[in-house]
Amino acid sequence: MSAKPRVAVLISGRGSNMQALIEAAQDQKYPAEIALVLSNKPDAAGLEIARGFGITALAVPAKLFGKDREAHERALHAVLQDQKIEIVCLAGYMRILTPWLVGNWSGRMLNIHPSLLPAYKGLDTHARVLAAGETRHGCTVHLVTEGMDEGPILAQAEVPVLADDTEDALAARVLEQEHLLYPATLAKLASEVKASFCEQKEAKKLY
Ligand code: GRF
Repeated sequence: MSAKPRVAVLISGRGSNMQALIEAAQDQKYPAEIALVLSNKPDAAGLEIARGFGITALAVPAKLFGKDREAHERALHAVLQDQKIEIVCLAGYMRILTPWLVGNWSGRMLNIHPSLLPAYKGLDTHARVLAAGETRHGCTVHLVTEGMDEGPILAQAEVPVLADDTEDALAARVLEQEHLLYPATLAKLASEVKASFCEQKEAKKLY
């Protein structure tokens, strides 16, 4: 393992969470390196932003693989391996993953979701929260498992839903918390991954 775990961020769009991770990792003390940004869409705005930070940013267009989702993921996985990635962060990556990819990254793949899971899995969370008249909302970082938005919860941040909220206003309030929660949670996981690697190395020395 390199000095810091090498992290890939997978995106499909604007990449504001990706940018928050990149900015956090610019601090020398941050325990992970954002080494790669990957997208299923060549025109994802986040790719250019990542390149602006000097980070390798590549697209593996899902289109090239038609309906064969696993073939697309095998191509993604090959890039992740080639770049010696140790942790994957999904950040607005808008594809459902196959058990094959999820199994390969078990315990080392994170996702951020804009709701207080297990409530409001899936899309359009802010509109559904407003329609239901909820008074609290937020975001969750969790480990990725086979069920969508179902893996073990690592951290959550809560925001109030205000009486005159619009979907956009609520989304912005949640997003502000996402940009704090994701870097903090990745830092924790990266430190644990690093510590367990060092323990294994020590154990090997003893035997
Ligand atoms: C975020 O709201 C995230 O929680 C969800 O998708 C959105 C991605 O936004 N998974 P961005 O691309 O990080 O700006």
